[in-house]
Amino acid sequence: MGDTQAPEHDGASLAGQWWRSAAIYQIYPRSFADGNGDGVGDLAGVRAHLSYLSELGIDAVWFNPWYASPMADAGYDVADYRAIDPLFGTLGEAEAFIREAHEVGIRTIVDIVPNHCSDEHPWFKEALLAGPDAAVRDLFWFRSGRGEHGELPPNNWSSIFGGPAWTRTKNPDGTDGEWYLHLFAPGQPDLNWENPKVREEFEDVLRFWFDRGADGVRIDSAALCLKDPTLADFDPADPPSPHPFEDRDEVHDVYVSWRRIADSYPEPRALIGEVWLPEEPERFALYLRPNELHTAFNFDFLGCPWDAAAMRKVIDDGIALHAPVGAPPTWVLSNHDVIRTVTRYGREDTRFTLDYRQFDAPSDLALGTRRARAAVMLLLALPGSAYMYEGEELGLYEVMDIPAEMRQDPMFFQTNGVNLGRDGCRIPLPWSGEARPFGFSPDGAAGAPWLPQPADWADFTVERQQADPSSMLWLYRDALRARRSEPGLGDGSMTWLPTGPDVLAFARDGDFVCMVNLSGEPVDLPAGATVLLASGPLDGDRLGTDTAVWLRRSAGSR
Ligand code: NOJ
Repeated sequence: MGDTQAPEHDGASLAGQWWRSAAIYQIYPRSFADGNGDGVGDLAGVRAHLSYLSELGIDAVWFNPWYASPMADAGYDVADYRAIDPLFGTLGEAEAFIREAHEVGIRTIVDIVPNHCSDEHPWFKEALLAGPDAAVRDLFWFRSGRGEHGELPPNNWSSIFGGPAWTRTKNPDGTDGEWYLHLFAPGQPDLNWENPKVREEFEDVLRFWFDRGADGVRIDSAALCLKDPTLADFDPADPPSPHPFEDRDEVHDVYVSWRRIADSYPEPRALIGEVWLPEEPERFALYLRPNELHTAFNFDFLGCPWDAAAMRKVIDDGIALHAPVGAPPTWVLSNHDVIRTVTRYGREDTRFTLDYRQFDAPSDLALGTRRARAAVMLLLALPGSAYMYEGEELGLYEVMDIPAEMRQDPMFFQTNGVNLGRDGCRIPLPWSGEARPFGFSPDGAAGAPWLPQPADWADFTVERQQADPSSMLWLYRDALRARRSEPGLGDGSMTWLPTGPDVLAFARDGDFVCMVNLSGEPVDLPAGATVLLASGPLDGDRLGTDTAVWLRRSAGSR
C-alpha cells in the first residue's frame, strides 16, 4: 500500500445521503490492475492503486462482480454470492479494501446480480441432478419443450445476447430432459422470483455485504427479475403490455423490501438500479419512489448524440422525471457494456444505441477526445451524482481489432460474431512504461493481459499522463477536485442561461456556471466571469468548438 494520501474528505461528506451528489468510479476488476501476474486484474491490484483512486478525487467505487464464477459472462454468472473468485482474490482482501477505502473517504458499491445466477451455482446443480418435478427446480424456470418429443423450446423468447433464451437439459439418466430459461447466456439460468426462497436468499446476500461495510449495491438487470408465469410467446417488435419479462409491476415489491434492509443500517446503504427502459421514462421513475431504489443510471444521457438541443432535452427530461419522486438524477457517459466515449463522439453518428452495425463506423479520435473532455465537465456539473468508467479518465478508445480467438464476450459468440460485443471497452488499463503490459501486471508476470492492449497505449499510461498537465487524467482530477470544493455542485438545481442554439450554459447555486460549446464557431464567454477550469485551450475571451468551461460569474452578471 504505502503511498496512500491523507483523506481530503471531511466528516460531512461521509454523512447523510452521499449518493445524491457522489462522483463514483466504476472498477471493472478484470481490467484495472493485476497484482499476482496472471494477466487478470484482481483485488491485490486495486489495493495497490488505492492512492490513485484517492488522488483522482472520487467519492465511491462500484465494483463489477467479483464473486466466485465460471466467468461465462465475465462474472455476471455468479456461483457463490458470498465468495470472491480466486481469480480476484479472497473475501479477506475484499473486506480489507472496503476498510482501507473508507479510511481515505471512498465508499464501496458492490454489484448484485438477482435476475440469474450461474449454471455452477449449487441450486442449479442440485436442480439438474434432482430431475423433473423436484421442488428445487422451482427456483428456476424449468419447462418441458414443445414438439412431439419436447425438442422445441417452451416458447419463442430470445436471449438478450442472441439465440434462444432456452437450453435443453439432460436428465440424470442421460435422456433429453426439460429446458431452462436464460435471458442472457446459457451459463446464466434465470431465477424464479415467485419463489420465496429466492427472495430470502437475496435479502441475506444484501445483509452479508452491508454487514461487511459495503455502502451500496448496483442492481444488475433490475427490471427483469419477474416473469409472466404463463411464459406465453410474444412478438418482440410489438410486445404486449405488461411485457412478459421486462418491468413487470410485481418487481417493485422486491425493491421495497430491499429498501427496508438498506434503511435498517445506522448509516443507510444505497440501492442503485440498472434499469434500461428508454421507451418508458415514467415507468423508470417508479423504481425511484421514496421506498424503493435511491438512484438509477440515466442511460438516455449515455446514448445522447453530441448535439446541444438533444443534450438539453435529455437533461431537462432527466431532471423533470426525477423531481416528483425526489430522487437525484444519476449521469453516466459510459460503462463496461457500451462503446468507449472518445470513439463514439468521434463518429459521424454520435449516439449510442444497441445497434451492432455501429461497430463498423470510423472514428476521428482527436475530435472524440476533445468532445469527451468537454462532456465530462458537463457530466460533473449537472445536478445529482455522476459515474465514470475506469479508463475514461485516461481517454482510452474502443479497441475494435481484437482477434476473434481472443474475444471473450458471450455476445460475440451468441451472435456468431455479427455483434463484436463488449470486449473493446474492457481492455486492461495501461499504467506505466513503453511496452505491453504497460504496468498492468507486475514485471516478469507469467500471464499476458487477458485481452490484448494496443501498442499505442504507451501514450495513454497513467505515468505519461501524470507528467502532462494537459492530459485527460489531469482534467478528471482537476474537475473532481473543483467539484468537491464548489458548494453548488452535486445535488441541487440548475438554471439554463440564454445562449445561441448550439451552446449549453447553465448556472448552479451560487455563482457557478458551466458552458459547453457544441457549435462550429467560437463563442464569447460572459463578460467579467473568472475561468475556473476549461476542457481545452481558450482563445482569449472566446470558447472554442467542442470545449467546456467552468466559470465564476461576477456579481453584476447575474
Ligand atoms: C448487465 C450487465 O451490465 C452486463 O454486463 C451483463 O452482461 C448483463 N447485465 C447480464 O448480467
